[in-house]
Amino acid sequence: MRVDRFLSNLPRFNRQQVRLLLVERRVSVDGVPVSDPHHEVREFSRVCVDDEVLQAGKPARYFMLHKPQGCVSATCDPQHPTVLDWLDEPDKDELHIAGRLDFNTTGLMLITNDGQWSRRLTQPTTKLPKVYLVETEQPIGAEYAATFAAGVYFAFEDLTTQPAQLELLAPRLARLSIIEGRYHQVKRMFGHFDNKVLRLHRERMGPLALDDALAPGEYRALSADEIRQV
Ligand code: URA
Repeated sequence: MRVDRFLSNLPRFNRQQVRLLLVERRVSVDGVPVSDPHHEVREFSRVCVDDEVLQAGKPARYFMLHKPQGCVSATCDPQHPTVLDWLDEPDKDELHIAGRLDFNTTGLMLITNDGQWSRRLTQPTTKLPKVYLVETEQPIGAEYAATFAAGVYFAFEDLTTQPAQLELLAPRLARLSIIEGRYHQVKRMFGHFDNKVLRLHRERMGPLALDDALAPGEYRALSADEIRQV
């Protein structure tokens, strides 16, 4: 939200007062004095007028987890362990998952409290590739790549999947890159050929690859550089 709108939404300032505060450079966002009324105030910005804090701006948090098999991509579940159970962090109820994985899918899971950041990662419009290693029951046919590139029709949603890239690594092992995250998408794409997915592992989401140093169940905070790349 624009800083002038943020301030004039508060009951204590009218628009005229807000204009004056900005001209007098009495407003700061994240410690930097601001006079431009268009300056963006985000969920995590710290906004002050003179020395008074109007929005505290909790720190944004970003983690990468190597999701193991046997946990659900949810913040709470009455029956099963969740991916958040692997995190030893305070205020876990403020965190959410950027892009779910099935119960037995392993690999890169990104967890944050920054909704704008996670939306950029998961929105199909941003076309960020999600890359999976897929092991199947039957050999993967040479025709799969062209079908996935053209799109697979999903009758339930009445849609055709966006073009996806398939790289064959072994007779029953492939790397698949998709830009959407539809329900059971990878399993259903291979299901089109009646080929069951036995193992599924997410290697990458957009610019962020799973850190090789993380064993299943381990996690780490993202670096400032990794956060900026999204
Ligand atoms: N596609 C699937 O079918 N399952 C996942 O967990 C992720 C993508």
